[in-house]
Amino acid sequence: MSKSEQVYETVVQAILKGEWKPGDKLPSVRCMGSRLGVHRLTVLKAYQRLQEDGWIDVRTKSGFYVCEKSVETKKPYVESPSYKDDSILYQMSRALIAPDLLPNRHLSSDIKQLLDMEPRLLGTYSSTAGDLRLRESLADYLLETSNFSVTADELLITSGAQQAIDLAARAFVKPGDHVLIERPTYGPAIEALQEQKATLHPVDFTESGYDMNQVEHLMRTHQPVLFYIIPTFHNPTGFTLSAYQRKELVELAEQYKCLLLEDDVCHDIYFDAPPPPPCFFYDTEGVVVYIRSFSKYISPGLRISVMMARGDRIVKLLRIKAMTDNGSPLFNQAVFRHIFFTDRMQGHIAKLRIAMQLRKASMEQQLEGSGLTWISPKGGLNLWVKLPPGWDVNMLIHHSLKASVSFLPGAICDPWDSSTPYIRLSYSYLNEKQLAEGMKLLLHAGKMLQP
Ligand SMILES: Cc1ncc(COP(=O)(O)O)c(C=O)c1O
Repeated sequence: MSKSEQVYETVVQAILKGEWKPGDKLPSVRCMGSRLGVHRLTVLKAYQRLQEDGWIDVRTKSGFYVCEKSVETKKPYVESPSYKDDSILYQMSRALIAPDLLPNRHLSSDIKQLLDMEPRLLGTYSSTAGDLRLRESLADYLLETSNFSVTADELLITSGAQQAIDLAARAFVKPGDHVLIERPTYGPAIEALQEQKATLHPVDFTESGYDMNQVEHLMRTHQPVLFYIIPTFHNPTGFTLSAYQRKELVELAEQYKCLLLEDDVCHDIYFDAPPPPPCFFYDTEGVVVYIRSFSKYISPGLRISVMMARGDRIVKLLRIKAMTDNGSPLFNQAVFRHIFFTDRMQGHIAKLRIAMQLRKASMEQQLEGSGLTWISPKGGLNLWVKLPPGWDVNMLIHHSLKASVSFLPGAICDPWDSSTPYIRLSYSYLNEKQLAEGMKLLLHAGKMLQP
């Protein structure tokens, strides 16, 4: 780091730590130079860069001041989209499987073949519930692989799990309703539920699952209309709820008439053994609405997900889906149907599992002995990592972004604790060599935070 970069860093850290607040005057160039033992031109160069980057303002004949905007930057690295920036070299903020791991060449020839077979495919809409042939194939597939007894009429094809969550929130939650959500959880689901003006109550989700007394207490006291859950390879923690707790939860939900909105986006990305059956499997009273998304590991570009609900719940969802887009694109559904049920694709998913497990091992190897702690997940795409004392998440983002490394700050998944010491690291996007390089840079950035 050059001397002027060191001055720049000193000022940024003082602002981020709140030692210098918006409107505070910075030491003069001369004074700062002698304080840090550097030439005043070096300080001037750093101040100019700080000004360009929006940290400080210059006031004529008065000096340099911390500008108002700098504080926005402080708190909300977390809210800022900078960690999602596509130009970042070491993307560990994205829970996305690297596009080159999809069978792209096969997909392209399959799509050509499909259009030859069905030349009029692009000329028509899907029905609101989704292509009947796809729903029938999925009902058979779910019976065979998960022992689900569902009919095509109980299935709704959506454009990803994200849309499914939003449809459920709009269909089942009214302003003022009480809703349970896991803590931590998938950030965009929090937003979808908040959008309905629900009162949210957090349920702690740990390695050993829920505290069922807490769940029972919340259900009894608040009569929640819905509990949004990710029991399988949870995002962000990677934890998986045991079969025993799944059964218990369904019983409680039936007792308190609380809909369980079960989100399952990484079902097939398990490492040593398949996960327990979804809560939907244990439900006999239609209290679970289940979302199985294939975006993550079949094709994010097609964004196909299926929602399962019984009785009038599916009718309500269909009504909202009709208002939203009146059916997901038929082309995407037809391509999915053409590629998903083949032996080749099922073989490909088995290979993906191995690739993800190797990538996870590579990330864990780098973390070994670093002072960061985590619980190794049994599937999924992420590690939920606890930072050692003294590592400030905002500062870590600041330093790691400079090294072109991104991760997801834990506060996005836990709105109740803006200073949570957790971060989510995704191992799915980078190959093992890139993961090793990215992790070294991240840990180096962390070491710079140590006093
Ligand atoms: C728990 C969870 N739900 C929903 C989604 C959105 O999935 P989709 O891409 O199918 O909309 C994600 C994506 O990261 C997720 O992790």
